[in-house]
Amino acid sequence: MRQIIIKCALHSLLIAGFVALSTPFVRAEDGEALYSSKGCVGCHTGGTLAPDLSNILTRRDRGWVERFIKDPNGMKSSDGDAQALDAEWPANNMIQVPMTDAELAAIIDYVNGGVRAAAPVNIQNDAATVDRGRRLFTGEESLSGGGPACISCHNVDGLGGLGGGRLADATGQVPKANLTLVADRMITADALFASIKGAAFPVMNGIFVNDAQIADDEAMALTAFLSDTALRKNQGALERGPGVEVFIIGGLVGLVVVLFAFDFIWRKRFVSVRSEMVGG
Ligand code: HEC
Ligand code: HEC
Repeated sequence: MRQIIIKCALHSLLIAGFVALSTPFVRAEDGEALYSSKGCVGCHTGGTLAPDLSNILTRRDRGWVERFIKDPNGMKSSDGDAQALDAEWPANNMIQVPMTDAELAAIIDYVNGGVRAAAPVNIQNDAATVDRGRRLFTGEESLSGGGPACISCHNVDGLGGLGGGRLADATGQVPKANLTLVADRMITADALFASIKGAAFPVMNGIFVNDAQIADDEAMALTAFLSDTALRKNQGALERGPGVEVFIIGGLVGLVVVLFAFDFIWRKRFVSVRSEMVGG
């Protein structure tokens, strides 16, 4: 009898071990962390950029939600509900965020249980924080996650020099390259913080995810910098940054200089070929 009991105990231990090992390592309580690290928080929290996902399973079935998250564009081309939803949120688009099935399940469980309102951020607007934001924006200080400096795609008035990148115009949407007044557009500093932290915009979301995430203190400093920039712009204290003309003229001048330089470097090319032909 004792032996049987010991055998049973050993077997159940083994079975328990197998079950523990074979269940995915992602658990529902990780859903909240994933919701933030995968960038969902940037668009979905606050309900101004995208729908609130709390209790989503009371209005949609789970299979639909899974398919939509896995392939939003595919769904929008074939599914009437997805098309109606897209029409409700014309200003923004759900993006495809790569994740495993276990991560997907954990996120759905988490949001369905009710997304906690992001804790109000106490944005410090002191001169040191604002200045740190400026340095992060221009790349003078690198982002800890290793992501590219904001200035490679954006600019703000008053930075001097040639201003920043213009890639953000290339989406063909409302020009968003110039972030001078973005703090006004976002209405509250919290919304701006959340959208920077979550890299809530399609192009940026692809860049600032996983290891390259923007840290809280960095998003805070950037929010302070952009809020301060909008404030000073509204007070008339900022010069407008250089326009597109500067880039075109600068580019032409650069081209001419480069052409002359090459001409100079290769000035002997005709001579040597000819002398070889004559000599040979
Ligand atoms: C760039 C902003 C953005 C990001 C980031 C984003 N979403 Fe969305 N999401 C939207 C928008 C906007 C919609 C509404 C449909 C549309 O217009 O594309 C939406 C719709 C949804 C829906 C359907 C909601 C409904 O009411 O049926 C789900 C579910 C969803 N998103 C989950 C997620 C999850 C999970 C993440 C993170 C992995 C995420 N989203 C990241 C913008 C975003
Ligand atoms: C690789 C290019 C790229 C980089 C780097 C980048 N962004 Fe963006 N950003 C974009 C694009 C493109 C948009 C327009 C929305 C879209 O389609 O993604 C955008 C939009 C935004 C918006 C919303 C603008 C609006 O008017 O709604 C904010 C705020 C923003 N970016 C802040 C930042 C900050 C802060 C950084 C630096 C940490 C940064 N971005 C780095 C490409 C970039």
